Amino acid sequence: MEQQKRYGHFDDQHREYVITDPQTPWPWINYLGNEDFFSLISNTAGGYSFYKDAKFRRITRYRYNNVPMDNGGRYFYVKDGDTVWNPGWKPCKTPLDFYECRHGMSYTRITGRKNGVEASVLFFVPLKKWCEVQKLTLTNNSSETKQLKLFSFEEWCLWNAATDMENFQRNFSTGEVEIEGSTIYHKTEYRERRNHYAFYHVNAEIQGFDTDRETFVGLYNEFADPQVVMEGKPRNSHAHGWSPIASHYIEVTLQPGEQKDFVFLLGYIENEQDEKFEAPQVINKKKAHALIAELDTTAKVDKAFAELCEYWDALLNIYKVRTGNDKLDRMVNIWNQYQCMVTFNFSRSASFFESGVGRGMGFRDSNQDLVGFVHQIPPRARQRIIDIASTQFPDGGCYHQYQPLTKRGNNDIGGGFNDDPCWLIFGTVAYIKETGDFSILDEMVPFDNQPGSEVTLFEHLKVSMDHVIKNLGPHMLPLIGRADWNDCLNLNCFSWDPNESFQTTENVSEGTKAESLMIAGLFVVTGKDYVALCKKIGNDAEAARMQQAVDAMTDAVKKHGWDGEWYLRAYDFYGNKIGSNECDEAKIFIESQGWCTMAEIGAEDGMVAKSLDSCKKYLECEHGMVLNNPAFTKYIYEYGEISSYPEGYKENAGIFCHNNPWVIIGECLAGRGNDAWSHYAKILPSYVEEKYQTLHKVEPYVNCQMVAGKDAFKPGEGKNSWLTGTAAWMWYTVSEFILGIKPDYDGIRIDPCLPETATDYTVQRRFRDADYEITIHPNGQQKGVKQIVLDGSPIEGNVIPYSAGKHMVEVTM
Ligand code: GLC
Ligand code: GLC
Repeated sequence: MEQQKRYGHFDDQHREYVITDPQTPWPWINYLGNEDFFSLISNTAGGYSFYKDAKFRRITRYRYNNVPMDNGGRYFYVKDGDTVWNPGWKPCKTPLDFYECRHGMSYTRITGRKNGVEASVLFFVPLKKWCEVQKLTLTNNSSETKQLKLFSFEEWCLWNAATDMENFQRNFSTGEVEIEGSTIYHKTEYRERRNHYAFYHVNAEIQGFDTDRETFVGLYNEFADPQVVMEGKPRNSHAHGWSPIASHYIEVTLQPGEQKDFVFLLGYIENEQDEKFEAPQVINKKKAHALIAELDTTAKVDKAFAELCEYWDALLNIYKVRTGNDKLDRMVNIWNQYQCMVTFNFSRSASFFESGVGRGMGFRDSNQDLVGFVHQIPPRARQRIIDIASTQFPDGGCYHQYQPLTKRGNNDIGGGFNDDPCWLIFGTVAYIKETGDFSILDEMVPFDNQPGSEVTLFEHLKVSMDHVIKNLGPHMLPLIGRADWNDCLNLNCFSWDPNESFQTTENVSEGTKAESLMIAGLFVVTGKDYVALCKKIGNDAEAARMQQAVDAMTDAVKKHGWDGEWYLRAYDFYGNKIGSNECDEAKIFIESQGWCTMAEIGAEDGMVAKSLDSCKKYLECEHGMVLNNPAFTKYIYEYGEISSYPEGYKENAGIFCHNNPWVIIGECLAGRGNDAWSHYAKILPSYVEEKYQTLHKVEPYVNCQMVAGKDAFKPGEGKNSWLTGTAAWMWYTVSEFILGIKPDYDGIRIDPCLPETATDYTVQRRFRDADYEITIHPNGQQKGVKQIVLDGSPIEGNVIPYSAGKHMVEVTM
């Protein structure tokens, strides 16, 4: 392998990833914002902001798949004599004397130095506020007085990110701004139906501004050499139509050693319908003034930043491990939990691979994401469960997606993904185990958001289970519907029309025999959870009813779902096997191995062990386990999108990291700690970062959805970073199954599964109103708790009974 160059490193003490070369192999981004106002920011300050919904309320403009890549963002131009530079290197790309980008927990700090001047910008979204703060600190480290010209830059998006990039016959005539002192207001469409506007402010007197893009950049110039900046003179342009922007111009004199702060604020405001205007055509700026006043000094900004850091301290103090292995500790304690929170906030909507216009929140995605953050913010997990369940249909089926702004099911994508209902059980059980809050089951929740249709959440869980039972195929296995977890295994959608989306083409389920072993396993896993829950709430009749269904499903899998060395993947429309040794290609798939081993189906007959061995033999490679093997080499009309991808990518034999943890959990349940760990470490970002930054390309501090598999042109290359179910699954796997700290109804179940090389480790776990300090002594064992001592006294079994207060736990394996 070629010698790998490094672009950065971890700084665990500050919980940061430090990028030291701006020319990363792909933009390495971070996320700002925790509740309503969000931003994406790359290591060169590219990216954009939005309020709640990346499609409908886009605040600043961004051009995806641009040339050069990642052009457009919040840019500061420093003009020092004839030299113009940016602290983040881009867009001018003037060589810097020093560059550093520190991505931290919901903040990013970018620092550049040139000719004795340092410009350092701290970007963050303060808690509970609808704005992005950009605190720019300029320092003169030279021995001469510096006369600097500073230009800021933001480009407004005309709110709807989709029409913003296509409806030019209208857009070029609608743009409107207002300028007041040091604040530039963006008010396109405010005159009619919008009751929101944005602003860009700086807490200093300005010596000029520009709000019209063409004037500022010049029609034949670029962000790298905007005309106004190059000339060193603002034009005070006022945008009418075309493309409104916001740029402040400030003249800064710095004595040797002098330092000055400027607080730039990108804000978003909503007004009441009858308070929109303060005079005809003039927006009511009262709320903007108030927001600005809250953040108009360095002291106020520093305080808001300290609050944000405390917020993250609190979140990350709930589960902390000390193993002595830095690479593991930093992922568990910092980055994996951080990624889970980002995934919760953004679902699959906005990353540098997700354009923010395509997808709402996924039913299955959101339920899975929940296990990644439920320990940190249970009230929001609770709300999320109710929101999701409210989009369900009375028969248990689900809208596949919903829009966060309206919380309504998304008609464009529709439903019929037959795995969806099961995930509601998965999410709800995780919530109750974490919190002990059974009252959620009594919440009245509508179907499809229809007032009057409310039933209890428990009833939703019941219809979810029933949806599977009522949709069984010829082998008494679950009918797959439009697709199961694998969106691309489209067994009932036959398409020869390249203009059709596989996700929405007609679902011909009439007469289908297409059954899914993935749903079968998922049903058994969530069915067991459901049975336990029913018993817990004293509904024994329902528990017995569902136990029967679970047993029947288990039998059906053993009888019709076993191929000899592994579990089949599915039966197609005609009833032919998929994922069988009899097939020419794609003889084995990962999803059914994962779910059926998690369900421990046929463990007593050796099926689990054989299946796990087959994963090692056929799916595993240097970079993880591929989804199927061998890859499809041609398009198969009966299978759909899965065979549309070139070999080794995405669902066609890519390493779809999301499903690797399923097999890892299967390994853990089987007690095979060495194998579990070796699979886990292969896709653990901190291990990958050490080995190959250039090959992997995408951010080395988070998981990506997909790494090119062994059949690909370039195995090991990562794509679709950040927003992926992988985050929650990696967390669930390591926290509960490898390190073995498992929330349960009555306490914490301790059941680690470790490599035999593991040494003693300690987990600090805040659980409801208790704090546990749990030290595990593995003694070279991969599995099996021999004894637990709680506050000095040995206990029976491996569940630490919950009681409030501080507790010390010693576990011997
Ligand atoms: C994407 C989707 C997820 C799906 C997976 C496999 O990650 O967000 O819902 O399960 O692809 O197709
Ligand atoms: C494509 C992708 C898949 C994703 C789906 C839904 O099929 O391959 O990963 O889940 O689109 O957007």
